[in-house]
Amino acid sequence: MEKPVFVALDLDDEEKLNRILPKLGAPQETYLKIGMELFYNSGSQVVKKLVAQGYKIFLDLKLHDIPNTVYNGAKQLAGLGVYCITVHALGGSQMIGAAKDGLIAGTPNNQSVPKLLAVTELTSISDTILKYEQNCSLEMTDQVISLAKTAKKARADGVICSPLEVTKLRQEVGNDFLYVTPGIRPEGSANDDQVRTTTPKKAKELGASAIVVGRPITLASDPQAAYQAIKKEFN
Ligand code: C5P
Repeated sequence: MEKPVFVALDLDDEEKLNRILPKLGAPQETYLKIGMELFYNSGSQVVKKLVAQGYKIFLDLKLHDIPNTVYNGAKQLAGLGVYCITVHALGGSQMIGAAKDGLIAGTPNNQSVPKLLAVTELTSISDTILKYEQNCSLEMTDQVISLAKTAKKARADGVICSPLEVTKLRQEVGNDFLYVTPGIRPEGSANDDQVRTTTPKKAKELGASAIVVGRPITLASDPQAAYQAIKKEFN
């Protein structure tokens, strides 16, 4: 089966969305990552519309609250028919499990349960923040592994991680788990604000289950051709 390449649509209104969509190709073959800016601006209606058109949606809202609230939130999101959603692994095993239960409870009978992905430590968290603000005694890699193990035990389907962490995570957490990685740049494209990037080919070699790519596709002169090329390289 083809491994997903999610196009990160970091935009905040439907007008911008409607400008980019026709440039990406057939909805049935297109995976989109929608974030909180579009969701907060245009609501769940826009997600429903995209799902109805055939797009596969990664709804990246990074839930993090008490288990009961996350259960109810995830239950609502499950009704949208999205492909996957995210929670913060730092919310703990009970919260992650509640998200899973909410997804199961909210998924209509004829649909598949959206996949549950956990964000471990955000890439914006430095070693200093980890140590002095989160008061974490583990090194970053060990903390990421520990959170991924917690997420797996709590029945998440995978984690969001750096492509450079996948090999280690596969060894420590297992192959029966999804490793979804942003920070991807095809050979020769601008790094933008990403620091440690990897090509789609390298991400595949490192064992990524799916990749997230934004600007190299959305800002390309021919987004559809850029998307197809990245899909081909990754698969
Ligand atoms: O445009 P670009 O390819 O850099 O977009 C990457 C996407 O992945 C953005 O939506 C960004 O917020 C997200 N992301 C990331 N690094 C993480 C987690 C998410 O770049 N660690």
